[in-house]
Amino acid sequence: MIKINENYLKLQDSYLFSTIAKKVETYQKENPNKKIIKLGIGDVTLPLAKKIGEEIDKATQEMLKRETFKGYGPEQGYDFLKEKIIEMEYKKRGIEIQIDEIFISDGAKCDTANIQELFSDDNIIAITDPVYPVYLDTNIMAGRTGNYNKTTDTYENVVYMPANAENNFIPELPNKKVDMIYLCFPNNPTGTVLKKQELKKWVEYAKNNKSIILFDSAYEAFITEEDIAHSIYEIEGAKDVCIEFRSFSKTAGFTGVRCAYTIVPKQLKAYTKQGEEISINKLWNRRQCTKFNGVSYITQRAAQAIYTEEGQKQIKENINYYMENAKIILEGLKQAGYEVFGGKNAPYIWLKVPKNYTSWEFFDKLLEKANVVGTPGVGFGPSGEGYFRLTAFGSRQNTVEAMQRIKNMEK
Ligand code: MLT
Repeated sequence: MIKINENYLKLQDSYLFSTIAKKVETYQKENPNKKIIKLGIGDVTLPLAKKIGEEIDKATQEMLKRETFKGYGPEQGYDFLKEKIIEMEYKKRGIEIQIDEIFISDGAKCDTANIQELFSDDNIIAITDPVYPVYLDTNIMAGRTGNYNKTTDTYENVVYMPANAENNFIPELPNKKVDMIYLCFPNNPTGTVLKKQELKKWVEYAKNNKSIILFDSAYEAFITEEDIAHSIYEIEGAKDVCIEFRSFSKTAGFTGVRCAYTIVPKQLKAYTKQGEEISINKLWNRRQCTKFNGVSYITQRAAQAIYTEEGQKQIKENINYYMENAKIILEGLKQAGYEVFGGKNAPYIWLKVPKNYTSWEFFDKLLEKANVVGTPGVGFGPSGEGYFRLTAFGSRQNTVEAMQRIKNMEK
């Protein structure tokens, strides 16, 4: 008899964004004349930068000629892209990354999901709460958590580190020893950031406890303020204890193109049961070579285009456009009387829902009364209850209109 991986049965019904999409679809079917504005999932809306398109065209031409055609590429990615990443993302910030410490992939979602398989099942994971659901769900699938507790909306064997208005969105260090720590800054979903001084504490904690920090910096390109780390490796000693995930999805509008990268420093170690040190870089390389055949040549050429002068200028224009949307949302919500967070160094705005609503009730109200879609905070974890997320990735027109509708909606 074929048996299933019963850990999957511990998962909640469906992935957050699929639940939302279904609800919106049902509403639209029942109300075909309503114009719904979607500020729910963090998906970009501006087209690719021109320079990226030009490089895609060029690479396509190469693929059409026998002399320049490319078959399988290196599983870890082409050097032409990795060299640019080293120079433009790290060297410029005084960080030394070696070429074999970079792994190009088809998305930070997959990498943050897959990385956990390098680590033992009995590791304790720690997640900030609220959190990007992928970190938790993939550990549930792997059997690293216990059962779901409906009353507390938490899983056994997971350390939740609340980040909310009460603690200024600065999660406290775990009060027990944990092994795998997921941090995402600028944060999805709250849009808040940690100062370098705060990140330093985490790196020290990881060093003292022989833990690993899985640092998701997919939103670093949206940072506008000083003293906010773009990379965890800006913190001294971080290369000993941190893996960093980066993505072109939001930075360069690649959500539909798919390209990202992960940095696994060679000095990063984890241990066998006997205490023997093992290189994580070697294990990840082994894993990628077995399970992944690399990102397409055309896509990697497209990503390389981001690092040209024109490419940089064009993607910055798009980022500025989204951050202007963020400003419009922050101001609009404030004028409508909401308490708001984030939105200054990230394309996400986190608001407090009116007192008499849960975040799902507020979702329904916003959909029905304003025809605006957002994401209920509780979908990201129990500490997200009472909050709601809007994204700045919509068109300018839709963003302005959404704010108008929210202002006109009775609270
Ligand atoms: C989100 O809305 O949180 C993002 O779309 C998540 C992702 O990038 O997968």
